[in-house]
Order: sequence, then C-alpha cells, then structure tokens
Amino acid sequence: MSFVRNAWYVAGWAENFGRALTPLTIMDDAIVIYRTEDGRAVALADECPHKRLPLSKGKLKGDAVECGYHGLTFDCLGNCIRVPGQTTVPKAAFVRSYPLAERRGILWIWMGEAEAADPDLIFDLPAFDEAGWAPHFGDALEIESNYLNVAENLCDPAHVSFVHPTTLGNPESEDVPIESHREDKTVITSRWIRDAPPVGFFKAFGNFQGHVDRWHYYLFHAPCVAVIDFGSADSTLKIGEDERDRGVRLFALHFLTPVSETRTIDHWMHLRNIAQDDEAMGDQMNAQFRLAFDEDKEILEAVQQREARPRRQPPVRIAIDRGANLLRRVIKDMVEEEIDLEDALHRQDGGETARPVRAVPH
Ligand code: FES
Ligand SMILES: [Fe+2]
Repeated sequence: MSFVRNAWYVAGWAENFGRALTPLTIMDDAIVIYRTEDGRAVALADECPHKRLPLSKGKLKGDAVECGYHGLTFDCLGNCIRVPGQTTVPKAAFVRSYPLAERRGILWIWMGEAEAADPDLIFDLPAFDEAGWAPHFGDALEIESNYLNVAENLCDPAHVSFVHPTTLGNPESEDVPIESHREDKTVITSRWIRDAPPVGFFKAFGNFQGHVDRWHYYLFHAPCVAVIDFGSADSTLKIGEDERDRGVRLFALHFLTPVSETRTIDHWMHLRNIAQDDEAMGDQMNAQFRLAFDEDKEILEAVQQREARPRRQPPVRIAIDRGANLLRRVIKDMVEEEIDLEDALHRQDGGETARPVRAVPH
C-alpha cells in the first residue's frame, strides 16, 4: 500500500457521528465509529475476530459493541469483555482501536501506530480564530480516483482555466507562469493574474466593476490537507503579495481521505473574509464550489479509468507539473520513512511481529 499511515485524516464532520454504529473505510481498513453515552467518539476495526461479521451490524450496549452474530462484546478500547456461553475470553478476542480527535467540528482519525498519535500534529489554520473570517462547511465528495491523483489536482492552479471556466477560472490565466516549491512536508504552488477580468466566482461575490488582480496559493500539507488561498482585488489598488486581506479572500480547504487505491473522499469547506454573518452567501459560494468540484471529479475519474489500462505512450512532462511532482516526492519520502521505521522495529524484536507489505508510490 502506498499510503502514509502515520498522519491524522478526516473521518468526517463531527456532527455526523452519534450513537449509531457508522461504518466507513479508510485505506482499506474497515472501521466503525460511534459515540459513547457521554458523547466521546470511538473508532474500532469493523470486523469481529470470530467469524468476521462487521461490528457495525451489531448493537451498542452502553459504551460497548455487541457483535450481531454470537454476541462477542467489545469495549471502547477494542478489548473483548464478554463471550456468551463461556467464562473465559480467548487471547485473540480483541479488535484494533484507532485514536480520534475532534477539532473545529471535524473528526480526525490517526491511521498509524497509536503511540505516535500526537494531537499537536492535527491541521489547524489561524483564520479559524481570527476576527473577520467565517468558516462554512461543505460536502464529502466521493471520487473514484487514487488519492495522489486528487492530491495532484490540489497542487495545480493551471487546471482552473480549462476545467472551471464558469466559476474559478477564465482564459486570462492560461499562459501565466506558476511558481512551485517545497517547505518540509508542504508544497506551495502559486501565481498572480494581474489586471484581468474577474472569474465567475468573483463576478458573483466580489461586486467588481473593472479589472482585478487574482491570486492562487495552493498549499498542500502532505499527506492529506490542501489549503487553497485564492481571491481577487480591484486592480487599481495594486495590492502587494502580502496584502491579500484587502481583497475578497477565501481559503478553500480540502481534506483527502483515501478509501482504497482507487477511491478518495474529499471533505471540503471554506473560510471567507466577506459577509461573515451571511449564511446564505456561504451557501451560494458552496453551490459554485460544488459545481467546480464536480468538474474535478469527472476529470479525475476519467484519468483513473485510463490508468487502469496499459499506457501506449510515454508520459509527457510539462512546466506546470512541478507542484504535482514535488507532492509525489514528499509522499514518497514519507512512505519510505515509515518503511524504514517498520524495518527497524522488525529488526529490534527479532522479526517477531508481522510486518505489513508496502510499496513506495511512484
Ligand atoms: S461473528 Fe461475531 S460473535 Fe460470532
Ligand atoms: Fe479544480
């Protein structure tokens, strides 16, 4: 598997989890999430170690889960606390539990070694706390495509001119060069389109009369968080790169959760620096985002379908690919780092524990 496991991924919007046993799949792990009676979220492997019935087909007994087949019962840590018909609990009767954390209305899950789950590593953005900003939740978009394809799209401002002609792009940006660089595990890709007509999104929400300066800063915090800082300001203001708050500015956030090698969920939301109290405007903006992200979905799913077939021609590399290439490099480094760590642990315990078989992504 080519996934980075030691990272916090978004399991979903926190409000969508309650006392129901909610199944979901992340990196091919079947997981069940529920809340305890006092509201704490719990994530367990969704498979009974007896005959493999998903625990999500069972029922909650207080804070424990009772399997729907023969009643094996597991507590919040995944320990078996009851085996009907006998007084002893077999040693192998447990399920894996996953660390969870709730922040800003988002439920995060740690997919790697539990001991390494540091809540300080959870993504955050200062704008959530700053006056003048309003957060607005969006959807969970399912995309039938490998998550690296989706991640590449989020390091790639060039595509908006062609994929989102009515909302986020227009032809004025087609030939404007893009700058890309890497800072540790973050890939930053950016460009400014100066003195050009506003794109559809900013025509609708910016109330601009003439030309605007438009920017895109795509920050991809590997492995799974993209922040797209984009906006427009009246060209007559001649704002500098660090004066983006003077314009209409948004952060579109995308949290990528790999479901399998060929499916990804993109939880998206935005923060905006205008009409902070106007929920209706937030909804209208989301309607435009929904339109645009469905266009991405169509592209990414078609690409995935081609990737399932043999390639007839060597890939063409072009200048705008730099951000995507940097992103693949960061992910490769992270996966290699994890494999090295697993190898070291394996050697340490004399090869006692089973080691997952992993491939490094290209
Ligand atoms: S399958 Fe779960 S108790 Fe038998
Ligand atoms: Fe897009």
